[in-house]
Formats: sequence, C-alpha cells, structure tokens
Amino acid sequence: MRPVTEQTILITGATDGLGRRVAEDLAAAGATVLVHGRNPERLARTLAEITEATGNDRVTGYLADLADLSQVHTLAEEITTQHNRLDVLVNNAGVGAGPPNTPRQMSVDGYELRFAVNYLAGYALTLRLMPLLRAAAPSRIVNVASVGQEPIDFTDVMLERGYDGWRAYRQSKLAQIMFTIDLAERLAGTGVTVNALHPASLMNTKMVFEALDYTLSTIEDGAAATERLILDPDLEGVTGCYFDQQQQARAHAQAYDAGARARLWELSERLTGVTLT
Ligand SMILES: NC(=O)c1ccc[n+]([C@@H]2O[C@H](COP(=O)([O-])OP(=O)(O)OC[C@H]3O[C@@H](n4cnc5c(N)ncnc54)[C@H](OP(=O)(O)O)[C@@H]3O)[C@@H](O)[C@H]2O)c1
Repeated sequence: MRPVTEQTILITGATDGLGRRVAEDLAAAGATVLVHGRNPERLARTLAEITEATGNDRVTGYLADLADLSQVHTLAEEITTQHNRLDVLVNNAGVGAGPPNTPRQMSVDGYELRFAVNYLAGYALTLRLMPLLRAAAPSRIVNVASVGQEPIDFTDVMLERGYDGWRAYRQSKLAQIMFTIDLAERLAGTGVTVNALHPASLMNTKMVFEALDYTLSTIEDGAAATERLILDPDLEGVTGCYFDQQQQARAHAQAYDAGARARLWELSERLTGVTLT
C-alpha cells in the first residue's frame, strides 16, 4: 500500500466512539481522512476538533443517515465525484442493542433498523465505492463487526417474531462477517482485501452505556486492533478473515456455510438494489 500520508481513508460513524478515535489517529498520521457522520452539528464539531488536534487540513466531512438507503447512495456519489481513489473503507457506524426492552425499530426503507444500519448500509456503500477501491489497489475494506454473533433465521430476517435488541445487533454483526468472507472470494485477484474484526469487548462508548452499566475495555483498545487492520503492512494480501481484536479467529459457524452466505448475498442485492460491478 501507499505510505499513510498518501492514503485516502473513509470511516463511517466517525463522530463518536471508536470511529472518532480512529479518524483522529489516522489524521495525526497524515492520511486524507473522510469523516462520515449523520448529524451536521456533531460532524462540524468533530472536523474542527480533529483539525485542531492534528494540524491536518485534509480532513473532510460527509453527512448521511445510514438508516436511509437513498442517503447511502448519495454519500457514495459525493465521494466518487470528489475522489478518484479510496485506499481504505472502514465500515464502523453502528447501532447497539439499545436500552433494555427497546421495541423493534425500522429504517426509512422499512427494514429492521440494526440489520439496515449495521449491515445493509455497509454492503451498499462498499459495493458502490468499489470502483474507487479498485482504482487504489492494493486497498482495504475493514468491517467493524463484533464477537457478539447470532445466526440469521432466513424465515424472519426482519425479526418480526419475538424481537430482542441483542439478537438484532448480533444478527447484523454476523451478517457483516458473512459478507466479508463472500466479498473476499469475489474480489480475489483484484488487490482489494476485506476483513472483519471484533475491536474490543464493551468499550466505553455510547452504545455500551445505553445498554449496560459497565465496560470491560477502552476505545483505545479497539482503535489499536482496528488501525492494525487498516495500516499493518504485514496484513498485505490477507483477506476474508475475522479477527478477535489482534488475533485471527473463528466466527460463528454460519459464517462458513456457503449456502447461507449465498442466501444473504442474494437478499442484500434484492433489499438494496446494489450489485457488485
Ligand atoms: N463498544 C463496543 O464495545 C463494541 C464492541 C464490538 C463491536 N463494536 C462495534 O464498533 C463500532 C463502533 O461502535 P462504538 O462502540 O464506537 O459506538 P458509538 O460510540 O455508539 O458510535 C457509533 C457511531 O455510529 C454512528 N451511527 C449510528 N447510527 C447511525 C446512522 N443511522 N447513520 C449514520 N451513522 C450512525 C453514530 O453516529 P452519532 O455520533 O451521530 O451517534 C456513531 O458515530 C460499531 O460497529 C459496533 O458494533 C463496538
């Protein structure tokens, strides 16, 4: 890969938590950082703070609510218009399990919210940005998933029966890993690699504080694991893998079921209207 100072890196959900930390660290390292957020005030404040802290003036913001697929498409178009290559895409934005007893929520497109934001938006954004990623090859996609994984019940993907926030979260996180493995196979030989990780357990972030009253690790722990997948030259060519923090690990068994992955891929194409080109 190019030296980090020549890399253009997009991080979704970079106005808080892990994404915010990784964006600042990469800006400090001299990368051109595309900071994605959904709230104009939070995005403006994040850009100002990162620029002030790092002195890097190649930090720019992009607004999109990932619960709305039309905004995902607009985000991809804006980035494609303004950049001719993308060295790294970090699909980090996510919604947690929510406070206890949170009722089932829907995206703008009528899909179960966590499946939509945590998985479908990243699927669509990644495929829409593929021409830029191919143009930058060797380039990387990093999917921020989780060790919390539950199999997808293809008869009830939108969780209409017996909704539970943790189940919704974990299903979406396994979907990200299944997508990672499939996409790596489809991108073989292109120089675009894709890996997923569990950054760290119960970091001190908003999504953890709203669901639980304790933490087990820090944002810095998760940032170190995530930045390794983004930058470590030793991972050149490594693709289709799931990492539990810094260690390559085995994901839930459904991730290795080619039939289940094919079903998810077909469903994702249908729900988003986006195919790999
Ligand atoms: N925290 C943990 O212990 C832990 C463990 C394993 C995996 N992870 C994963 O790590 C990633 C980052 O989580 P975090 O802990 O840093 O959580 P966080 O502090 O709650 O940050 C989540 C980010 O996602 C953004 N986001 C949420 N919904 C969005 C939407 N509809 N459209 C656009 N952006 C949206 C948030 O935007 P706002 O700033 O506007 O709210 C925020 O920037 C997630 O994928 C999560 O699943 C976290």
